[in-house]
Amino acid sequence: MSPRLRHLTTLENLPRETIERLLDRAESLRDACAHGTRKLDVLAGRTVLNLFFEPSTRTRTSFELAARRLGADVVNFDIGLSSTSKGEELFDTLHTLEAMHLDAIIVRHKESGTPEELVRHAMSGVSVINAGDGNRAHPTQGLLDALTIRQHRPDFENLRVVICGDIKHSRVARSDITALATLGVKEIRLCGPQELMPGIEEVPQGRRYDRFDQAIDGADAVIMLRLQKERMASIELPDEAAYFTHYGLDQRRLALAAPGCLVMHPGPINRGIEIAPEVADGAQSRILEQVGNGVFIRMAVLNELLAR
Ligand code: CP
Repeated sequence: MSPRLRHLTTLENLPRETIERLLDRAESLRDACAHGTRKLDVLAGRTVLNLFFEPSTRTRTSFELAARRLGADVVNFDIGLSSTSKGEELFDTLHTLEAMHLDAIIVRHKESGTPEELVRHAMSGVSVINAGDGNRAHPTQGLLDALTIRQHRPDFENLRVVICGDIKHSRVARSDITALATLGVKEIRLCGPQELMPGIEEVPQGRRYDRFDQAIDGADAVIMLRLQKERMASIELPDEAAYFTHYGLDQRRLALAAPGCLVMHPGPINRGIEIAPEVADGAQSRILEQVGNGVFIRMAVLNELLAR
């Protein structure tokens, strides 16, 4: 059996067995909740800190719900009202909060590598969970996307999965690619404009496509990505209407995919820019299922790291 995790900063180098264990545990927690279990006490007496230096709706809320459902206490650190605005440095903030006796820190930060920095500086016994760092990794999103696909199409060895959009700036894309490749997905197709594609040395996996019509042909799942304008300082933004024409998912394009192709998006979605409203809200959309699975994946991760 693969060793129990102490931190979760990336999915890279995680054995397939560990990823499958987390997905299986998320499924059992989902079943327990479906059968009426609202709250467990496996993390009673544990304290979890949500330390988000970037905005979040889904990840932060679902980590809070996940921790509470497992019986943990949760502190939501409000950056805007904190002493960060008075110039306190990250590690001083870390040690200050640790002095209040924490068991886990869930961190989101614009700088890639911040979670590993926290692992290096954190007190022993404090687990660090990456809730998204720069464009590098968003491991719980990678896990919840893999879980969502597995619930509909467990035959990963037959699947063609397209990831389309701003891959260059996307930590979701990187963690999705790692999770899906580790789980044995047959074909991962990456599609987007040249200026929004990462270098091959940065993301070696996946076959690259310029034309979305070709990428989506016969696909079993398509994961659409948001244009991450906040990370595009040195890139000229694509014109949104032209972007939708070339890289937007509409009904015509979806019809080129395999029947029943899963439509996914990590959110937040920009309707009419990367996805047509009728597709986002359509019968093939799994976007809200992804959100729901986020709670169970985060329960599984917290349980893995913190349960006694
Ligand atoms: N998918 C995702 O990370 O969404 P939030 O930014 O709302 O957390």
